[in-house]
Amino acid sequence: MKVLNFGSLNYDYVYDVDHIVQPGETLDSLNMGTFFGGKGLNQSVAMARAGVHVYHAGMVGEDGDAFYELCRENGVDTTYLRKIDGRNGHAIIQVNREAQNCIIIYGGSNRRITKEFVDEVLADFGEGDIIMLQNEINCLDYIIDRAYEKKMTVILNPSPYDSALDACDMKKVSIFLLNEVEGKQVSGYEEPEKIIGAMLEKYPDAKIVLTLGENGVVYADKDKRAQQGIFKVKAVDTTAAGDTFTGYFVAALAKGLPIEETLRLCSKASAIAVSRKGATPSIPTMEEVENIEL
Ligand code: RIB
Repeated sequence: MKVLNFGSLNYDYVYDVDHIVQPGETLDSLNMGTFFGGKGLNQSVAMARAGVHVYHAGMVGEDGDAFYELCRENGVDTTYLRKIDGRNGHAIIQVNREAQNCIIIYGGSNRRITKEFVDEVLADFGEGDIIMLQNEINCLDYIIDRAYEKKMTVILNPSPYDSALDACDMKKVSIFLLNEVEGKQVSGYEEPEKIIGAMLEKYPDAKIVLTLGENGVVYADKDKRAQQGIFKVKAVDTTAAGDTFTGYFVAALAKGLPIEETLRLCSKASAIAVSRKGATPSIPTMEEVENIEL
């Protein structure tokens, strides 16, 4: 079984701020850093640091050479990474004193995926292989259709939630990993139980992993429920905490771990990520997750 992540790669320009800037306000930042990020890349790095061989498919811009190096350093397979003309995708991130963030994305190269490229990548994958997707690249509906035809296990993190997702046939998704905001956007409900109920009614064969911030995470499928609380840490930057959780979840799935152990592992890994700055630099290795006392 092979693991493919078809997703974004961003340069993250991160500004520490007293508070998230308000409409009409000009705000001096307290500090600034540049990190590697993108929900796609963060999740691939998390899978690799959790010990799984992951192929990352995506497009970097003419300023994107550094992503090859970053992937190689982290053991992320770059066979399906392509460099194209034009600017790489980037994100402008504000992090306030409470460690909450607010993100603006410029898609750039991430929005230049072609159907030909999708076909070329998927030609090497087949039944039983896993494909991980987020919503920061174009062609998402096409990728889901082709991967499903090939009987791959389609895992979707519908983030950020926008109208591109309306074009996707969600019935082809085997596992949804989403937070409560996305849960509301998908189902129309705010209460976790209602979100899960509505999603299972619409997608009865899917597995749902709903993260609930301070309230931990709930797993549900038509036969089973499980939940896990958070590991309390001093929060520094919540960027990529969700991506860390998702990457570790896919890694645990690939390794065949039971769901209870999976949720515990993912929650611990994302707690460590919250205690550190930046996106990819904050993601722990499996060794750290196993050895740290929280
Ligand atoms: O989920 C965090 C990520 O969202 C950041 O790394 C940023 O690039 C945006 O894609």
